[in-house]
Amino acid sequence: MSSTPKPPPAPLPVADPEASRRVPITREELVVVSASGSQHAEQFRALRNSLVALNPDHAPRTVVLTSALRGEGKTTATLNLAFALAETPGAKVLVIDANLHAPSVEEYLGVARGQGLSELLGGRLSPDQAIRPTALNGVSFIGPGSTPAKPSELLASERMKTLLRTLKQRFNYVLIDTPETTTTSDAAVLAAMADGVVLVVRIASTPRGYVDQACRTLEAMGANLLGTCLMGAELPDTARRPR
Ligand SMILES: Nc1ncnc2c1ncn2[C@@H]1O[C@H](COP(=O)(O)OP(=O)(O)OP(=O)(O)O)[C@@H](O)[C@H]1O
Ligand SMILES: [Mg+2]
Repeated sequence: MSSTPKPPPAPLPVADPEASRRVPITREELVVVSASGSQHAEQFRALRNSLVALNPDHAPRTVVLTSALRGEGKTTATLNLAFALAETPGAKVLVIDANLHAPSVEEYLGVARGQGLSELLGGRLSPDQAIRPTALNGVSFIGPGSTPAKPSELLASERMKTLLRTLKQRFNYVLIDTPETTTTSDAAVLAAMADGVVLVVRIASTPRGYVDQACRTLEAMGANLLGTCLMGAELPDTARRPR
């Protein structure tokens, strides 16, 4: 008996920007919004402060977030850092979901999937159609769009470089969520295009050798390693001081 061929996935619609603006940010991991006074939220503000201190002339910056292994907390860190950066008055922050292999920014934000980076790089969508607001003032995002046949080629293209240059004219910070460095070269390629890269490390879980290897891979591509973001650290909650 021959099996019926799987129908191709339905094409994604062009997203309605006003729809994503109305979706409240509720995910527990997005602590800068969901637990604004917590020690974990303060850690993302500290990371923000470090990035801002490295950029004393307040030039627009593109920053890649990656990790050695899957699931270390890249998407959580990217979104929390974006929310922390947007706490600076007048700051405009863009998150790009460039993890075309396992995207999750739309899921974390609770918004519908729509056309995004793939279509933008393919010349089928304009930046104005791709950029979607979030419920948080100052934070916008570009979703991954449909899964392209060759994600790595698309991300390594001249179009991607041009896109980053264009977006820096509209945003103070462009944060790029990427796949882990051990599986694909996407993050290293994007990090080399960006102004800097932050390595997300799940503390007490990622073997040190993998972290060292990730640093070497990024540096070999000429990326500017700005620092690390330690995830999953158990901290005493000292953010709220006793009266
Ligand atoms: N600080 C944290 N402490 C504990 N768990 C966390 C923390 N941050 C994220 N998580 C959990 O870890 C899992 C992976 O997080 P996240 O999706 O941010 O990782 P990722 O690196 O983007 O994954 P992927 O490689 O699949 O893109 C999620 O289930 C998330 O809820
Ligand atoms: Mg992710």
